[in-house]
Amino acid sequence: MSSSSVLPIHKKLLSISLCVCVILAIGVKVDGSAGTTAADQFVYSGFSGADVTLDGAAAVTPSGLLELTNGTLRQKAHAIHPAPLRFREPRNGTASARSFSTSFVFGILCPDPDACGHGIVLFVAPGSYDLSAAFPSQYIGLVNATTNGDKGDHLFGVELDTDQNNEFRDIDGNHVGIDVDGLVSVSSASAGYYDDRGGGVFRNLTLASGEATQVWVDYDGDRKQIDVTMAPLKMAKPSRPLLSTAYDLSTVLTDVACVGFSSATGSFNSRHYVLGWSFAMDGPAPAIDISKLPRLPRFGPKHRAKLAEIVPPVATAGFILAVGAIAVLLVRRRLRYTELREDWEVEFGPHRFSYKDLFNATEGFRNKNLLGVGGFGRVYKGVLPVSKTEIAVKKVSHDSKQGVKEFIAEVVSIGRLQHRNLVHLLGYCRRKGELLLVYEYMSNGSLDKHLYDASDDVPILDWDKRFMIIKGIAAGLLYLHEEWEKVIIHRDIKASNVLLDKDMDGRLGDFGLARLYDHGANPHTTHVVGTIGYLAPELGRTSKATPLTDVFAFGVFILEVTCGQRPIKQTSNGNQLLLVDWVVDHWHKGSLTDTVDARLHGRYNIGEAYLVLKIGLLCSHPLSSMRPSMHQVMKYLNGDMPPPELNPTLQNFETLALMQNEGFDSYIMSYPSSVATMTTMSNVLGEVIT
Ligand SMILES: Nc1ncnc2c1ncn2[C@@H]1O[C@H](COP(=O)(O)OP(=O)(O)OP(=O)(O)O)[C@@H](O)[C@H]1O
Ligand SMILES: *[C@@H]1O[C@H](CO)[C@@H](O)[C@H](O)[C@H]1NC(C)=O
Ligand SMILES: *[C@@H]1O[C@H](CO)[C@@H](O)[C@H](O)[C@H]1NC(C)=O
Ligand SMILES: *[C@@H]1O[C@H](CO)[C@@H](O)[C@H](O)[C@H]1NC(C)=O
Ligand SMILES: *[C@@H]1O[C@H](CO)[C@@H](O)[C@H](O)[C@H]1NC(C)=O
Repeated sequence: MSSSSVLPIHKKLLSISLCVCVILAIGVKVDGSAGTTAADQFVYSGFSGADVTLDGAAAVTPSGLLELTNGTLRQKAHAIHPAPLRFREPRNGTASARSFSTSFVFGILCPDPDACGHGIVLFVAPGSYDLSAAFPSQYIGLVNATTNGDKGDHLFGVELDTDQNNEFRDIDGNHVGIDVDGLVSVSSASAGYYDDRGGGVFRNLTLASGEATQVWVDYDGDRKQIDVTMAPLKMAKPSRPLLSTAYDLSTVLTDVACVGFSSATGSFNSRHYVLGWSFAMDGPAPAIDISKLPRLPRFGPKHRAKLAEIVPPVATAGFILAVGAIAVLLVRRRLRYTELREDWEVEFGPHRFSYKDLFNATEGFRNKNLLGVGGFGRVYKGVLPVSKTEIAVKKVSHDSKQGVKEFIAEVVSIGRLQHRNLVHLLGYCRRKGELLLVYEYMSNGSLDKHLYDASDDVPILDWDKRFMIIKGIAAGLLYLHEEWEKVIIHRDIKASNVLLDKDMDGRLGDFGLARLYDHGANPHTTHVVGTIGYLAPELGRTSKATPLTDVFAFGVFILEVTCGQRPIKQTSNGNQLLLVDWVVDHWHKGSLTDTVDARLHGRYNIGEAYLVLKIGLLCSHPLSSMRPSMHQVMKYLNGDMPPPELNPTLQNFETLALMQNEGFDSYIMSYPSSVATMTTMSNVLGEVIT
């Protein structure tokens, strides 16, 4: 039976849940069989014809590679052994996890080794575990923000993680971790092995090297110990494991569970492969036949090691190798700087940067120059070689070249915007699969850091600065809405998109998203874009961004700056509460000024703070017709006109309730802000670029 005829059926089942259906179908075979049977072990040296349930992007290539992801963004993939296995049996009256061993050979290919995600997890989960709502991002397609860390998951995993995520307390961007019920590892170590041939010396391995690497995971049910070992392919299993951790899986695993792989790409073009896999209960995993393994594909300028293998070991090998290496270096050099340039770009000439300049400016996009990671990609600091201008380079991945022309035209027209409260876009560069946007560098970083991560070197912002920033952003937004030749809707106003220049003036950034509309024309309906907590309720219904949806986000933003709290508050009992509702509540109780950031210790101008809170509530009014225009907002802020009194009846309902009526609930509830930004942004990118 060919694998292609089996897989589609499994694929369907999987969309319902992990493998519960498969359990029902063949449960008879597994039930009650505690001893080692043929069903308790398997070995695949290559996956041609293998009986593996595939889901998401996973596929078996004609050469027998299990391809989890193929370099497309935001993919997730699962490959699961279809038969559930008995992982626990009664011992001394309690259910105790049995010993098991598994081994696999994997390969991860990344076009950019510095920005690579998100890795592969080998996991054991109950048959009823639901993978459909797992996120295709740093959650590696295994959990989502809700299920991560939930004891009810009954999840065990070994992660090969190629990206450092602080929320999971990852030690680095190239580590192996033992996971229980989520991606915060019980223990982890940088990838590598203790070399028996070198007297046990530790040698680093790069997970995303594009080289086949073998991993062994052994659980000892008697000693309650998990060992994880890895080594380059063709090397015997090192005697000292990379990780050796005491952990009793009896409390984690269910009696019957499924074993498989999960992977996800998030915002990276990485490819994840498994070449071979074996498993056994109560005994060592059967040996994988290395000679039968399929070959990993190659891409990018990464041929050096392979070349060495092909060259015959003769006396001239050294010479040939040297010539080869030089050739490869030359090719690499060329590849390194290749960019896409087409005829239509001539008119945009002055805005075009050469990749070589950007590469040199950022010291080769070194991690040390990484300013931050946003929904679209990474942002690096750089200094232009000749002018010594400081820049921030945003690397945006994209797959297709259709629509790029319109996008570039937009970028260039955005580049013509000049206002002291906007981050100036200096230009762009294009490469295969990648767009680079060049902005002025803002030495004081983004406002959210000053609001939330204040420490000794980033002191808490005093009220005068906050008020100045609020006025500045209002002026910037007014310019976009009313003072340029076209109406520009920003669509993603939030604290992390407000950057502070050297004078601590606020500048609105991230115009990659702004779409241009001619004055008076009806804005087209497009996908919802923006970030949860800042989205006006009507967006859930119409998906139509207007200047008033920007005003809503601006209202939330100024409340955030005044209160020093995120738009969605976590209450002490773990519930979520919209900041707007919390401020409205205080307004009803007549204690509006209690909402002002307590870290200011009362050192603020009460009149100004009261004014800003009031404007914040007016702007973030659930009914768009009740919101002021930016022109009016500017007048209120400058004291040229008093703001209207807040209307108690209209303001007197829970915004969230209204949002739910507008079909917003699934939206608010199912995405943490970063993920929502990413999904919605990728929709827009999809529209603009693909
Ligand atoms: N021009 C700049 N100067 C200095 N730092 C910058 C600049 N642009 C971005 N950064 C830094 O890079 C980080 C990431 O920026 P980016 O705009 O990609 O993401 P974000 O605003 O956090 O999220 P999103 O992509 O959802 O808008 C910012 O938080 C900021 O610290
Ligand atoms: C990758 O897989 C997706 C489906 O998951 C497919 O749409 C896409 O065309 C594939 N891309 C390549 C380069 O094979
Ligand atoms: C079972 O219990 C006995 C006595 O309590 C103990 O000696 C033995 O080690 C236990 N066996 C296991 C496998 O836990
Ligand atoms: C291995 O990698 C770690 C972290 O990247 C580094 O600190 C260490 O020096 C490396 N060791 C060797 C032997 O290369
Ligand atoms: C996470 O997944 C569970 C099911 O596995 C689902 O009930 C929940 O809504 C999801 N959470 C998010 C934030 O998507």
